[in-house]
Amino acid sequence: MKIDIRHASVADAAGIARVHIDTWRSAYKGIVPDEYLASLSYEKRLISWGNFLGAMPSRQHVLVAVDDDGKVIAFANAGNNRSVEYGPDGEVVAIYLLQEYQGCGIGRRLFHASIHRLAADGFKQMLVWVLADNSACRFYERMGGQLIGEKMEEIGGKSLKELAYGWDDLPSRVT
Ligand SMILES: CC(C)(COP(=O)(O)OP(=O)(O)OC[C@H]1O[C@@H](n2cnc3c(N)ncnc32)[C@H](O)[C@@H]1OP(=O)(O)O)[C@@H](O)C(=O)NCCC(=O)NCCS
Repeated sequence: MKIDIRHASVADAAGIARVHIDTWRSAYKGIVPDEYLASLSYEKRLISWGNFLGAMPSRQHVLVAVDDDGKVIAFANAGNNRSVEYGPDGEVVAIYLLQEYQGCGIGRRLFHASIHRLAADGFKQMLVWVLADNSACRFYERMGGQLIGEKMEEIGGKSLKELAYGWDDLPSRVT
């Protein structure tokens, strides 16, 4: 199957919302409380993604991976670092792939495409926040991320540790 990676448009909001919620439910089962995962709403997520994609801030990118039928099977969201207390100027906010497409190199493609977009926009470094209990930490380590921080975050009434992985010198990583 051929998987294309392209910029998202407002028309992708429903597909992204579905991937977002389905991937949360599979990847965070046993980490995030079940009640919280069950309470996630496709309708609410569709509205928030539609609003976001309809008025994208500058230097912010949402990339989607689509299959032969044009179905969104993954997305990545990158732009300004949201956390002022950490140094990197850029951030990959999310990379989410439907479970059945994981482990085939699509995450790596989305990660590199995001780095390219950030570097093209003039970002020099970037970070990613990931739940410490999520095996995706190994993915970011494999992508060359260095552990640069940690914090506690409350999700669904449970206190969870998040780790920050950082990458420096983005321009040299895309040449
Ligand atoms: C994490 C994620 C983006 C990785 O994408 P992927 O397409 O599955 O990963 P790839 O196939 O591109 O793997 C690239 C490398 O990372 C390794 N890797 C990927 N996920 C891994 C995992 N969970 N544990 C250990 N190694 C992993 C692969 O073995 C591969 O190693 P290699 O360089 O030796 O071949 C994807 O699995 C995913 O969406 N997971 C669920 C959601 C999630 O946790 N997202 C991150 C939130 S911050």
